[in-house]
Amino acid sequence: MNAPTDLQKFLAAQEKKSLLRFLTCGSVDDGKSTLIGRLLYDTKLLFEDTLASLEKDSKKFGTTGEDIDFALLVDGLEAEREQGITIDVAYRFFATDKRKFIVADTPGHEQYTRNMATGASNSDLAVILIDARKGVLIQTRRHAYIASLLGIRHIVLAVNKIDLMDYSQKVFDEIVADFQVFAAGLNFSTQVAIPISARFGVNVTEKSAETPWYRGSALLAHLETVDVDTALADTPFRLPVQWVNRPDLDFRGFSGTIAGGRVKPGDTVAVAKSGKTSTVSRIVTMDGDRDEAVAGDAITLTLADEVDISRGDVLADPQARPAVSDQFAAHLLWMADEELLPGRQYLLKLGTATVPVQMSSLKHKIDVNSLDHLAGKTLALNEVGYGNFALAQPLAFDPYRDSRDTGGFILIDRFTNATVGAGMIDFSLMRATNVHWQALDVNKQARAAMKGQKPVILWFTGLSGSGKSTIANLVEKQLTSEGKHTYLLDGDNVRHGLNKDLGFTNADRVENIRRVGEAAKLFVDAGLIVLTAFISPFRSERRMARELVGSDEFIEVFIDTPIEICMQRDPKGLYEKARAGSIKNFTGVDSPYEAPEEPDLVIKAAEATPEVHAQAIVAYLRAHGYLG
Ligand code: ADX
Repeated sequence: MNAPTDLQKFLAAQEKKSLLRFLTCGSVDDGKSTLIGRLLYDTKLLFEDTLASLEKDSKKFGTTGEDIDFALLVDGLEAEREQGITIDVAYRFFATDKRKFIVADTPGHEQYTRNMATGASNSDLAVILIDARKGVLIQTRRHAYIASLLGIRHIVLAVNKIDLMDYSQKVFDEIVADFQVFAAGLNFSTQVAIPISARFGVNVTEKSAETPWYRGSALLAHLETVDVDTALADTPFRLPVQWVNRPDLDFRGFSGTIAGGRVKPGDTVAVAKSGKTSTVSRIVTMDGDRDEAVAGDAITLTLADEVDISRGDVLADPQARPAVSDQFAAHLLWMADEELLPGRQYLLKLGTATVPVQMSSLKHKIDVNSLDHLAGKTLALNEVGYGNFALAQPLAFDPYRDSRDTGGFILIDRFTNATVGAGMIDFSLMRATNVHWQALDVNKQARAAMKGQKPVILWFTGLSGSGKSTIANLVEKQLTSEGKHTYLLDGDNVRHGLNKDLGFTNADRVENIRRVGEAAKLFVDAGLIVLTAFISPFRSERRMARELVGSDEFIEVFIDTPIEICMQRDPKGLYEKARAGSIKNFTGVDSPYEAPEEPDLVIKAAEATPEVHAQAIVAYLRAHGYLG
């Protein structure tokens, strides 16, 4: 095994070449598959299975260095999987003498925005296909806008099927001019238009005599030479800490992949959140210690001092620290069938940190065809919105335009764990730093002790007409007669004051319950036993209300009355109106009710009198020590 094998030579040569990650946008009709097929075919592609067998072979031959390159390629994809993004994107690898390529092929029309976002979030360039017969379509604009939104700075406009337009320069020029009008506002650094025929290979891998008027390069030559160097290594140092590596008492290292900049032993680094600084002692990698590491390298740092650092922290250049805040403005691409509801809590995953988040205000939606701003209260599948986000705790981040890694995030549904959105941070809102929680001398404990009770929220939930208000009212009467201090927040009443601006859309109900949850929390702080009587139809918001207070300060009471009985009772005649269609979004008729999965108390209201149920609830409070 002295002489390098062909495989070794091949792999060694591959490693030296630069890598271009690009994305193809367009539909099958536009000739996308033909184009990719042709690129792969003409460049003596490596199919994935070829790649897999290459890897196997490399191991068999006992080579080491060669592995790295391919492992890196695969790593990138695994990182996405870890992020929980459902990949409906096929990545193909091919190489020429000059460069290696990974092309993200995002199939189909269905949910294409989501697929495209997945592919675009780690591509440097997008090839946007246009059918020369059709010109710039709505979807061409969508593709260009989303590519721009996701930080792609290099565009190729591949005007395909030019053969079907007799290789007409006029047709080509018109399409290009048309596209430029739209793309002017999208900040692309390079934008190259190429007339091609994927089917006949015109201007794909080689320039063709069919278009003598075209002075530029063939597509492949352009892809081989376009300078997309994002120079991540020249940006300020960022290491999102993935885990604290502590194999024994003598070693404490901080592991992760460098998201920006470079680092050397002796450099001063700061913990972004606390501002504490220390000096880098060692850069440890799988292949031993290093003198320097740059963006993209997976490393473990050890520091000269004992500094408090945990997963989710970011180590950064002390001269150029990331923003630290619990609020920011961002673009959001919504990827779920169920609409985004501002005010609802989701999980935000940014780098290695995961925290609860709400979109605190949706400023506008973006019409991705015209780039117009539209008013909106929610986001539907594939829609893009812009607004403010409020995190449960401060995080370190950068604007997305400065760093995709430390400025991009995903949103996760708290119940299904599905990825529901992709976000791009615009700027930090600094409120976190100048509004402090005021420590008061008289606290909850003091107020509660004075009243001889343990403050708690009795959260009644159930359909309209189920008996929530009636039972809650009786419970309050009973407690008051025992000298307890209470407050009852009732849906119909609160909707006359605090929440009179809200209706009954899903978004408004979320906001209704968010405010009621916050108000109830304040009353708990006042030392009161709080009763709330709201339909509160969504699990998500009931959980949010529960999490606002301590777990022993929230009792979920499910008033479980069958809808048929609620309809029969129909105390306000609303079910009848809803069924007649004169009231819209009525719970149980044309708006959902998500029954509690694990309520603390279930009251079958129809099976006994309200008085009996009220007594049972008071007995529960007494048994659990709330009544002093
Ligand atoms: S919630 O869904 O946001 O929790 P809330 O409890 O505040 O609702 O208000 C419900 C009350 O509003 C009902 O008891 C009923 O009297 C009235 N109401 C009017 N329109 C509707 C509607 N479309 N759906 C449900 N309740 C409605």
